[in-house]
Amino acid sequence: MFRMLTLAAVALGFAPVVFAGPNPPAAVTRVVFGSCADQNKPCPIWEKVAAAKPDLLVLLGDNIYADIDNGKLKPSDPAKMASCYAELAAVPAFKRIRESTYIMATWDDHDYGNNDAGEEWVHKDDAQKQFLDFFGVAADSPRRKQKGVYWAETFGPVGQRVQVIMLDGRYFRSPIRKADKPLPGTTIRPYLLNTEADATMLGADQWKWLEEQLRQPADVRLIGSGIQVVSEEHPFEKWATMPNERARLYRLIRDTKANGVVILSGDRHLGDISVAAREVGYPLYDITSSGFNQGSKAYRDPEANKYRVGGMPWGNNYGVVQIDWTSKDPLISLQLRDEDGEIAAQARVPLSKLQPGGGKPPADKKEEAVKLPEGVISPFDALKKAKGDAVTVQFEVAGGNTVSGGKRILLNSLKDFKSDDNFTVVVNEKAMTGPYEKATYDTFKGKTIRARGKLSEFQKKLQLQIDDPANLEIVEPKVEEKKDK
Ligand SMILES: [Fe+2]
Repeated sequence: MFRMLTLAAVALGFAPVVFAGPNPPAAVTRVVFGSCADQNKPCPIWEKVAAAKPDLLVLLGDNIYADIDNGKLKPSDPAKMASCYAELAAVPAFKRIRESTYIMATWDDHDYGNNDAGEEWVHKDDAQKQFLDFFGVAADSPRRKQKGVYWAETFGPVGQRVQVIMLDGRYFRSPIRKADKPLPGTTIRPYLLNTEADATMLGADQWKWLEEQLRQPADVRLIGSGIQVVSEEHPFEKWATMPNERARLYRLIRDTKANGVVILSGDRHLGDISVAAREVGYPLYDITSSGFNQGSKAYRDPEANKYRVGGMPWGNNYGVVQIDWTSKDPLISLQLRDEDGEIAAQARVPLSKLQPGGGKPPADKKEEAVKLPEGVISPFDALKKAKGDAVTVQFEVAGGNTVSGGKRILLNSLKDFKSDDNFTVVVNEKAMTGPYEKATYDTFKGKTIRARGKLSEFQKKLQLQIDDPANLEIVEPKVEEKKDK
């Protein structure tokens, strides 16, 4: 069945553009993805995309540049946006792609209509309507009723199901602020972290929807995000600007035990392949392809990114996810390709590595592999509780210190105590009696502890203060065993 529709451009006085979209693919082995295509500039990569004949094209935003006027940034308006979509629709190679290839799309700022904008953008509802019109979304689709363009679909038979989850990181995103001063030697004012308790990237409805999606059965899950999720050192927009929201995303993937997740991202005018090794219980790849025609034209040094395993710091690019389902352990190839269609950077990972608990538990997350007795919770679960809640929490002490001249001992669940996922048990002087009379951090280092009490807060972070030695025990190795040694 072909879907036909006339773009909003008609109503706004532009030539009628009729879009006939193809059916969803019955199976997916090749996905092409990318972002950042200025409709006013040549884009030879569209020819490469058409020639690649992907089962699916994933567009990660900045699919048009509606907020550029005479080369300068200027907030868009409905007429300008319609004309930009009409220009893209008229690009011959893109026209062929749209007629032959099923497209899953989200937007980023330039097709949302305003540079780096979020929930405050005044034309967001019109932008959503034009986006849905352009991508041929049926008039009776639930997407026409929801706020935001997030959407997910699953393709392929059982055992080869590819779920594509497209996030909307614009419609609900709380405002973010730039620093007053530029970075030394540059004109770039970096974004400041937003750690406000109510700061949101996705908004409540989309978070709920995402959890439902991650609980759906699938073999590979491609999560499309306009902006980068894993890379965090650069000063531009990124999930890391809202560290609590990023930690929430990682936690959600971990807690839903969603298998096979790979992040696809755009926005950055560079290609990047990053891996967060520990955050979700298996390697979380974030492959960034940007842009179709907005990649840096000249050489530039790779920017700092401690998670990078490959990349293209300059040059136009597009991404390919190739899945070899014929192998017993399907091999996923994540590729960045240049304007010639050549692979410029690649990471290959067997699907068996992208399984919760499938690999060796990372050193920082050992407690996840431990079966806890009833009523005893992990630090991750403790962090989801509220101040004043009574908990019994158990973890292996991964870090900490003896502080305040020996009057307090900090016991951390993660080596990185600054991590949002770290939970701290504070042993106060009052508790340093009985078995802990001469205790220091070394008494607990590397041991599994169980601590009981009511959660308190320190610098907006939940923790547990221990004043009574009866509320703290070393469960592993047993104290008796320790004495034998
Ligand atoms: Fe962008």
